[in-house]
Amino acid sequence: MPSGPHPLDPATAGELTRGVGILRSAGELSDRAFFAFGQRVEPSRQELTKASGGHDTDRILNYVGHDPERRQSFDAYVSVTSNELLSIEWQEHGQAPVTMNDVIMIYTILAENEDWIEALAKRGIDDPSQVHLEPWITGVHPPEMPTGRVFRAIAFQQREPNTNYYAFPIEGLTVLVDVDSGGVVVQDAGVVPVPDRPAEYTAEGVGAHRDGLKPLDITQPEGPSFTVDGHVIDWQNWHIRISVHPIEGLVLHDVRYKDGDRDRTILHRAALSDMVVPYGDPSPMHYWKHAFDAGETNLGQLANSLKLGCDCLGEIYYFDATFLGCDGEPSVCENAVCLHEEDFGILWKHTNWARPDLAPEVRRSRRLVVSMIHTIGNYEYGFYWYFYLDGTIQLEVKLTGVIGVSAVDDGGGTDTAPLVAPGIASPIHQHLFCVRLDPAIDGPNNSVIETNVEHATDGAHPYGAGFRAASTTLATETAAMRNIDSAASRTWKIINPSSLNELGVPVGYKILPQASPNFMVPEDTPAGNRGEFARHNLWVTAYDEDEHYAGAGPFTNLHPGGVGLPSYVEQDRPIEDTDIVVWHTFGVTHVPRPEDWPVMPVEYAGFTLLASGFFDGNPALDLPPSSSACHAD
Ligand code: NI
Repeated sequence: MPSGPHPLDPATAGELTRGVGILRSAGELSDRAFFAFGQRVEPSRQELTKASGGHDTDRILNYVGHDPERRQSFDAYVSVTSNELLSIEWQEHGQAPVTMNDVIMIYTILAENEDWIEALAKRGIDDPSQVHLEPWITGVHPPEMPTGRVFRAIAFQQREPNTNYYAFPIEGLTVLVDVDSGGVVVQDAGVVPVPDRPAEYTAEGVGAHRDGLKPLDITQPEGPSFTVDGHVIDWQNWHIRISVHPIEGLVLHDVRYKDGDRDRTILHRAALSDMVVPYGDPSPMHYWKHAFDAGETNLGQLANSLKLGCDCLGEIYYFDATFLGCDGEPSVCENAVCLHEEDFGILWKHTNWARPDLAPEVRRSRRLVVSMIHTIGNYEYGFYWYFYLDGTIQLEVKLTGVIGVSAVDDGGGTDTAPLVAPGIASPIHQHLFCVRLDPAIDGPNNSVIETNVEHATDGAHPYGAGFRAASTTLATETAAMRNIDSAASRTWKIINPSSLNELGVPVGYKILPQASPNFMVPEDTPAGNRGEFARHNLWVTAYDEDEHYAGAGPFTNLHPGGVGLPSYVEQDRPIEDTDIVVWHTFGVTHVPRPEDWPVMPVEYAGFTLLASGFFDGNPALDLPPSSSACHAD
């Protein structure tokens, strides 16, 4: 076994600090430069194979940040094994994700800005410190500010220190701030009175609480059924390694299933690659919004520190995550990842109706849950990977938090921003998530098959009622740009043509999509060009180590688009029986409703990876009955 950390172990605080020192002393950065993130570079699959053979891998760290002196963002690689700066690349297009440094700069610059103070005064707000600023990524450079590190802020009145400021939107007022130069452009579309109706969600703020909910305790007196070794989880037949990526959040590596005496690979790697949240409302407060919460805002790094009994219930194991601050100092986010087991109803059951003397056979379903929750401004995203006893893998995204709002003085909502409360409208928008799956179904060489269920028109069915599952192998990258078709029960199956099950059929895992909407933004628009990955629910690309992001990755902020998936597939490479990457975009269109205010009950999005001919028969027949009442003696 190799000595030292596993090549996929995250960078330690010590490594991050040492790397910052090496980078700073190389003399490329000015004193004003700051960091968006630092992380260890994942070794390629080839390097990983070597590492497991006893070779140590060079520990290389990637630093992304911005230098206001150069007015450019950097992408630097540092070896903390050989203690040298390997490369630094200054970005021509796109900038590092937003940092706390930017937020503080926006507050500082606006506190002194006469135009801003005057615009607030027009609305009867004389004290700028009573204003909560919500800095947003502005998409592409707006015409009013064609260069610089530009953010667009919206504002809310903070009437009392502990009240929900989102109930008091300052309508019609946005402001562009270039944090590099201190430049400010106030955009005032006209005064609308600030609404006057508080909307609280805190335990204290809502007043009386309902009663009647008795304690519901989850106890596992003998402890959980999983074991953890570093970042490796073993549970039942599953073997999973995890890490936390500053942009992608929770990453699964090397997902395997022990099938009898075979140790079978399923996924080499799986994680969110990017996501886009386009808004459909033309109002000056919202028309420019199309957030890429991963690439633009470092979703992974905006992790919540999870609390027992609140976020997860039962016997929990927590993983901490170490992140680099903008000042180059690492800090630990405790309990960033939650690991636990959940009862999930029944997995299978049958009652032998002809033998009433026999008890029904029932087996309970249980799932292993690996989860993280992220707060991005007003909104929360929870990412929950589930592993089931029958080989099923599922990703569920939980969407909650506070919806975006507008103040409306004429009392009416519109079809692009319906009313959610008197005087408060909320814009229609979408949340589209693109997950990158690097499959390894019994090895790296896989193909993807599309199946559509269609009427059988050959007349073979005596009643003319025939229908069939028609399958096509997706042969090239452009042929594999596909969308969900629920009416045709469309699914995609990742297979290994060289690994056959007992029926002589290639083993596979099926992507079972949800009923996902299409990306509503037309092509050749700023949001359309940047969010092209969301236009198709499926993309399949030939594996290339350098093709990691669905969009512009760490430099999505202010990037004009055209990179990522649409540029990868221009090569139109063959994708049959080779090392492939499967990209699945799914999500929801959110037409806000009164029940979403002032805090939104969780909405769900996701997909399932279902073993489909991967096993010979039901792999969960061997589950023990949970009690003698659940089986025939
Ligand atoms: Ni929403």
